[in-house]
Parts: sequence; structure tokens; C-alpha cells
Amino acid sequence: MLGLNMGFRLVSVLFLSSIYFCSLVQSRCSRGCDLALASYYVLPGNELIPISQYMDTEISRILQYNPDTIPNQDSIASFIRINVPFSCDCINGEFLGHVFNYNIRSQDTYQLIADRRYANLTSAAWIQRFNTYDPNLIPDNSNATLNVTVNCSCGDSSISKDYGLFVTYPLRSGETLESVSSAANLSSDLIRSYNPDANFSDVNSLVYIPGRDENGNYPPLRTSSGDPSFCGLFLILS
Ligand SMILES: *[C@@H]1O[C@H](CO)[C@@H](O)[C@H](O)[C@H]1NC(C)=O
Ligand SMILES: *[C@@H]1O[C@H](CO)[C@@H](O)[C@H](O)[C@H]1NC(C)=O
Ligand SMILES: *[C@@H]1O[C@H](CO)[C@@H](O)[C@H](O)[C@H]1NC(C)=O
Ligand SMILES: *[C@@H]1O[C@H](CO)[C@@H](O)[C@H](O)[C@H]1NC(C)=O
Ligand SMILES: *[C@@H]1O[C@H](CO)[C@@H](O)[C@H](O)[C@H]1NC(C)=O
Ligand SMILES: *[C@@H]1O[C@H](CO)[C@@H](O)[C@H](O)[C@H]1NC(C)=O
Repeated sequence: MLGLNMGFRLVSVLFLSSIYFCSLVQSRCSRGCDLALASYYVLPGNELIPISQYMDTEISRILQYNPDTIPNQDSIASFIRINVPFSCDCINGEFLGHVFNYNIRSQDTYQLIADRRYANLTSAAWIQRFNTYDPNLIPDNSNATLNVTVNCSCGDSSISKDYGLFVTYPLRSGETLESVSSAANLSSDLIRSYNPDANFSDVNSLVYIPGRDENGNYPPLRTSSGDPSFCGLFLILS
């Protein structure tokens, strides 16, 4: 009798702790992925050299992901989007993003850095979260750096295993779920399923869109990258 009771208690404890563990895994991240893409909207005056500095990557790497949009690295067109590669990390176990080290320029504000330097890939509030400086007292000193955090996605095995590379895409005025989907040549249903809570009328909000690699292919999801699907098995076993 006692043995059965103890066994039952043990099973209950295992069951409850696995629910707890799995809910932690699902609401937070355990690891990131090597590659994500940032959709950087180029305005007149933007050049590849500063973009590569802000995004901490080589120009040659940017060119690899934009064979059709940047045919010549000496003059980049305006009013186009380019895809800039970056690594997508699990930040403090809480969310997927990348913290760029940005060298402060004179007259910088969080708003200007978000809007112009980082093309709305982040927001003033989201930059401020990761820096100690008061927004009105950013040092006017190019030796100082700021943490600029850009969010990203590594995919979701419960939606599709066919997509493992994602573009962080800031919506621009006039864009809709339909226009974004047709520009990506993907179905609206698929884009919606990766962005269940996104408001496509909300200018500058971020959405995640499956992206193509250097060869123009969609890399499949690597199931080992932070995939919480083992939780189902864990629950059944316990
Ligand atoms: C960022 O957003 C602001 C405000 O909506 C807009 O004026 C600006 O053109 C955007 N920047 C880019 C690079 O899209
Ligand atoms: C980045 O993701 C975090 C966590 O999901 C969210 O709170 C934050 O608002 C996002 N930042 C931007 C600029 O969308
Ligand atoms: C940037 O982040 C690092 C690590 O969290 C922190 O030590 C540093 O103080 C931050 N920089 C600023 C300017 O707040
Ligand atoms: C920046 O750092 C260099 C080398 O550490 C130093 O010589 C220079 O005075 C610094 N500039 C400012 C504006 O603090
Ligand atoms: C768009 O997708 C369809 C089907 O998924 C494919 O047949 C077609 O070649 C694609 N078009 C482009 C321009 O990629
Ligand atoms: C979506 O965003 C637009 C523009 O910011 C706003 O007017 C609208 O109320 C939002 N819709 C929902 C459902 O939150």
C-alpha cells in the first residue's frame, strides 16, 4: 500500500515538474540559431559601409544574400529592402535577438538610431531597455558604445519544418499581410501563422518571414535548435 502511494506521488511530482519545465521552455528560449536576416530599408544617403558597420558584418556577406538587389557594391539603390545576415541568439534565456555594439555618433538619440541607423529593425524603447544612459544624456563620444538589440526568429516546428531561416521585417506604411506575402511569394496563411499576434496595419512593428539562403533556397528547420517538441514525449513518459 505504502509503495503504491509513494510511486503515485513520485509520478505526480515528475508530471507536475515536467509541465513546469516545458512551460518554461515554451515561453522562453534555450538556444538561438547561427543565421537570421534583417530586412533593411535603404533610404537616400544610406551606404553599404555604414550599414555593414551597424550590422557588424562584412560587405561581401551582405552581397551574398542580395545578388539581385545589389548588383554593384559601389552604388546601392534607395527605396529597396536588402537582407543583412546576423546571428540570432537566445538573450538571457528570455527571447531571440542579437545585441549589436553600436559606436555612438554625435547628436545620436535612441529614436534616431532606431529609425535611421537600424531602419526600424528595433525601437527607441527597445534600445533603451538594454542601456543605462538616460535618453537625454547619451554621451557625445565616439568611443562609447550602445547595446542595440534586434529581435529575430529561428522558426517553429509546430508550424513547418520546411523553414529554418527568418527575416526580421519591419512593416512600412501601406504594407499589408497580402502585400508582404505576395512579395515573398508565400501564402498569407503561412505568414499569418508565424505572426499570430502581429497587427499588419501597425507601421514599424516587426514580423517574421521565411527567408532564402545565398543560393535562393529555403533552408529547412534544424530540429535541434531550441525545439521544445520533446516536451510531449517527456509528458507521456512521466
Ligand atoms: C522608420 O520609421 C519612421 C517613422 O515611421 C519613418 O519616418 C522612417 O522612414 C522609417 N525608416 C526606414 C529606414 O524605413
Ligand atoms: C522584441 O521582443 C520582445 C520579447 O518578445 C518584445 O517585448 C519587444 O517589444 C520586441 N521588440 C521590438 C522592437 O519589437
Ligand atoms: C550593454 O550591455 C552590457 C551587458 O549587459 C552592460 O554591461 C553595459 O553596461 C551595457 N551598456 C550600456 C551603455 O548600458
Ligand atoms: C577615444 O579613445 C582614444 C584611445 O583610447 C583616446 O586617445 C581618445 O582621447 C578618446 N576620445 C574621446 C573623445 O574620449
Ligand atoms: C512562387 O511560388 C510558386 C509555388 O510555390 C512557384 O511555382 C513559383 O516559381 C514561385 N515564383 C517565384 C518568382 O519564386
Ligand atoms: C492595428 O494598428 C492600427 C495602427 O496602429 C490601429 O489603428 C488598430 O487599432 C490596430 N488594430 C488592432 C486590432 O489592434
